[in-house]
Amino acid sequence: MNAENNKNNNKDKVLIFDTTLRDGEQSPGATMTLEEKLEIAELLDNMGVDIIEAGFPIASNGDFEAVSEIAKRSKNAVIAGLARAIPADIDRAGAAIKHARRGRIHTFVSTSPIHLAHQMKKSQDEVLEIVTKTVSQARNLIDDVEWSGMDATRTPIDFLARCVEAAIKAGASTINIPDTVGYATPEDYFQLVYNIIEMVPDSDKVIFSTHCHNDLGMAVANSLAGVRAGARQVECTINGLGERAGNAALEEIVMAIRTRSDIMPFFTNIDATHLAKISKIVAMAANFPVQYNKAIVGKNAFAHESGIHQDGMLKNAQTYEIMTPESVGIKSTSYVMGKHSGRHAFKKKLAELGYELGDNQFQEAFQRFKDLADKKKNIYDEDIIALVDDEMGSANDKIKLLELEVISKTGGEHRCFIKLDVDGEEVKLIEEGQGSVDAIFNAIKRAVKANPHLVLYGVDAVTGGTDAQANAHVRLEMNGKIVSGRATEPDTLVASARAYLSAYNRLLLDRGAPAQGAMER
Ligand code: KIV
Ligand code: ZN
Repeated sequence: MNAENNKNNNKDKVLIFDTTLRDGEQSPGATMTLEEKLEIAELLDNMGVDIIEAGFPIASNGDFEAVSEIAKRSKNAVIAGLARAIPADIDRAGAAIKHARRGRIHTFVSTSPIHLAHQMKKSQDEVLEIVTKTVSQARNLIDDVEWSGMDATRTPIDFLARCVEAAIKAGASTINIPDTVGYATPEDYFQLVYNIIEMVPDSDKVIFSTHCHNDLGMAVANSLAGVRAGARQVECTINGLGERAGNAALEEIVMAIRTRSDIMPFFTNIDATHLAKISKIVAMAANFPVQYNKAIVGKNAFAHESGIHQDGMLKNAQTYEIMTPESVGIKSTSYVMGKHSGRHAFKKKLAELGYELGDNQFQEAFQRFKDLADKKKNIYDEDIIALVDDEMGSANDKIKLLELEVISKTGGEHRCFIKLDVDGEEVKLIEEGQGSVDAIFNAIKRAVKANPHLVLYGVDAVTGGTDAQANAHVRLEMNGKIVSGRATEPDTLVASARAYLSAYNRLLLDRGAPAQGAMER
C-alpha cells in the first residue's frame, strides 16, 4: 500500500509539530528577531505544518510577543506555547495563544530519576500530583493540551506509564515521549512507545508524539521508530536545529516517510516543495549554516561529481537519485548569471532561489551582485544566495563597515585602519594585533567600547577557485548572550570584519538583558 492510497485513512496521517521557533531557537546563538519568526511561522503554516510551537511565553517578553503575534496570524496550523509545570507558566502560555484560531498549551515535567533527584528534588508521588494539577489547569484555559514527560527515555517505564495515565485522566489529548538527551536507539524507542501505548488505559483516545534529540545522530531514526510503534505526531525542526546536537530534522522525516512509503505506510500534510526555501531562511535567521552534505537540503544533496555518477545520471536520474531535486523545491535548471545580466534576470534568479525582496533590498542586492560580477568571472547560485542572505541580514545594522585597510608583514607588524558608521557617527581608528584578523577585531572592540568574548571564528569558500567569495562566521558571547554573525565578500578580511560586526549588531538587539558596554559613547 502506498501513501497516496492512504490519504483518506486518518490513522496513517502523521502530524508534523514544528518546534524550530522554540527548541530550535534554544540552540546557543540561534536567537531570531520577531520579524524573522513571523516570516518562518508564515512559511511553516503555508507548507502544511500541523502544529507550530511558536515559543516559550514565560521565557521573556520577546517570546510572549512572538507567540501571541504568530497565534493571531496563523491561518491553518495549531499554535502551541510551551509551559513548565508551574501555574504562572501555564497562565502565560494560555494568554499568549488566546487569539489563535486553534491554540495549544504544551506543558512538561521531568520524570526520570536523575532529574527528580538533582533538578526537581521531588518524589515520584509529588510529580504525579503535579501532572494532574498542571494538565487540569491548562485544560481550564483551552481544550487542546499536550503533556510531555521530560527525559522519558531514561524513566522507569512503570512510572512513566503512571504519569501518562494521570495526564490523560486530567484531559491531555497529546502525549509526548521525549528523548530529551538523545540517548535512545531506534529499538529502545520503538519498544518504549509501543509498551506505553499497550500499558496505559485510554491510550487510544489520545495522540502519541515523538520528540527526539540528536546527540547520537539517531533523532530521525528514533522518531520514525516511534511512528512505527504507534505515535502519530513527530516533533521536529527545520535543518534539525535545536538544543546541543539538535532535534529530528523536519525535512528528513517528511522525505523519509514519502520516499519509503513501501515500508512506512504513512503520510504527512507537508508540501515538500517548500523545504529548500525554508531551510535557507531558517539557516539565515538563526545564523546556522547548513552543512554541505546535510540530507535533503544540503548544497551537495543533489550534486554529483564523480564521472561514474554523472554518467549514470545523464542516462537516467534514478541511477543515483532516490528523489528528485524538484520534489524538495530545488530547481535543477539554472540560468548563467554574470556582469551582463540585468535586473530582470536577477529578479528571476532570486525567485528561482526562493527569495522575494522588497524594492530597497532588491536594489542593494542588485548593486552588490553587479560589483561582484565585475570582480568574479563565474557567478554561481551559491554566490547569489550568500550575497542576498548577507544583504537581508545586515539591513538593520546599527554599526556598519565603511572602510578597511590592513598591513601585514611576515614575522611582524599587523596593523589595521578602520572606518565605521556607529549609529550615524563616523569612527576612524588604527589598531594592531597578533595577526590581521586580530587587529581588525581589536579595532572594532575599541570603536564600540565593548569586549565580547570570541567563541568561534571560521572562514570557508562559497564556491571553488581562487576568486571564490569568502564566507566568514563569527560567534560572540557577552553577559551570557551568545550570537552568531556571517558575511560573504570577495575579500577574506573584509568578510571577517563584517561577520564580526554582524554578530555584534545582533548583541545589540533589544532582547533579554541589554548588551553591556555597547553603545556607551
Ligand atoms: O527535549 C525535551 O524534553 C523538550 C521538552 C520541553 C518537550 O524539549
Ligand atoms: Zn527538546
